[in-house]
Amino acid sequence: MKSSSIIFLFVVIFSCGFLLRQSEAVNVYCYYASWAAERPDHAKVSGDDLDPNLCTHIFYAFLSLNPEDDGKLSYLDEELDVKLGNIQKVSDLKKINPNLKLLFSVGGASAAPYVFAAIAADETKLANFVKSSEEFLDKYNFDGIDIDWEYPYDKPLLLKMAQALKDRFQPKGRLVTTAVAYNPEDAGYDVKGMNEVFDLINVMSYDFHGAYAGKLGQNAPLYGSSSESSWQQTVLNCNASLWNWRNKGAVPEKLSLGAGFYGHTFKMVDVSQNSPGDAASGPWDKGPYTDNMGTLGYLELCELHKSGTTRWDDEQKVPYMTDGNMWAGFDNEKSLREKIKYIKQEGISGIMIWSIETDDVKGICGGRKWPLLNAINDEIKNKNI
Ligand SMILES: *[C@@H]1O[C@H](CO)[C@@H](O)[C@H](O)[C@H]1NC(C)=O
Repeated sequence: MKSSSIIFLFVVIFSCGFLLRQSEAVNVYCYYASWAAERPDHAKVSGDDLDPNLCTHIFYAFLSLNPEDDGKLSYLDEELDVKLGNIQKVSDLKKINPNLKLLFSVGGASAAPYVFAAIAADETKLANFVKSSEEFLDKYNFDGIDIDWEYPYDKPLLLKMAQALKDRFQPKGRLVTTAVAYNPEDAGYDVKGMNEVFDLINVMSYDFHGAYAGKLGQNAPLYGSSSESSWQQTVLNCNASLWNWRNKGAVPEKLSLGAGFYGHTFKMVDVSQNSPGDAASGPWDKGPYTDNMGTLGYLELCELHKSGTTRWDDEQKVPYMTDGNMWAGFDNEKSLREKIKYIKQEGISGIMIWSIETDDVKGICGGRKWPLLNAINDEIKNKNI
């Protein structure tokens, strides 16, 4: 072999290696629940408490749609967002990491779905929606809009809204993304159409089990459990959810796997029957920071249930915690690392987190700050600690 062809061969090998590494890049899509800036004590997390190097994208949750409005976006909490400067604080994170992308997430679980529908169905309102979205991005130097419409039940209307945003945003390199139900059968989705129009589809692959079912169950198992029916195993876990989206026409490079920085909590009927699938008598109490019956943030679990016992569910690749008759199915550093391995193996675009401020942001539980978000970033870099 001539030396020139040997050099050529090396160039080919090196560039293949480079391409492979590129395709393994895992994005970290961080939702930030802005109302955490009003939580008490050390659970308070303002925009300037966020670490701009642990996320590739931050989604500011939420902007809202006013029902009486003409399609324009409005602040969810003007006092916090504007007067206390919380949005500007997030915008300023780009001074620390200029590669960070920022998006406004519009809507959310408590926003009325019919308001989205009314805007998408009306040319004037839709034009106002697009113009107003653009004004918000310009004003705060953000990079895109995330439609969190729960749920459309109308295939053409969601696409129409997304396309209108895209027509205006794409020439400027701005992003149009959406957050979706874990089961693509559930909410009226044209998956192929969504795959075309959206830059990213954030799959909310969590909340698979809750106290309403009367049984202990994991919030976000990576895989199914043999204690479940075969239908449950093909719907109620992250792997199944991502495959259901892929089988309907979404490509893995446009999908994220959703992870929750919180657990679903239960009251056990019998403390000796503490495996997933065993009986539960209802949800555990609200936490002092997140104030929601039947769920606790990771900080609440590690800080307030210090005396709890954590066990590993090897079948579903997630932990669960017991403390007295409290039971929680949640994610920890180990399970999030498993999810990153899965994301790499499947070529999925990244991990989506709802929501980062329930991590142990300030290192209260005795370890480092942001233990969950740091574990994710370490695993992405193949770093062990
Ligand atoms: C992941 O889901 C696919 C599609 O349903 C299935 O074929 C595969 O066995 C699942 N993987 C595991 C480890 O359960």
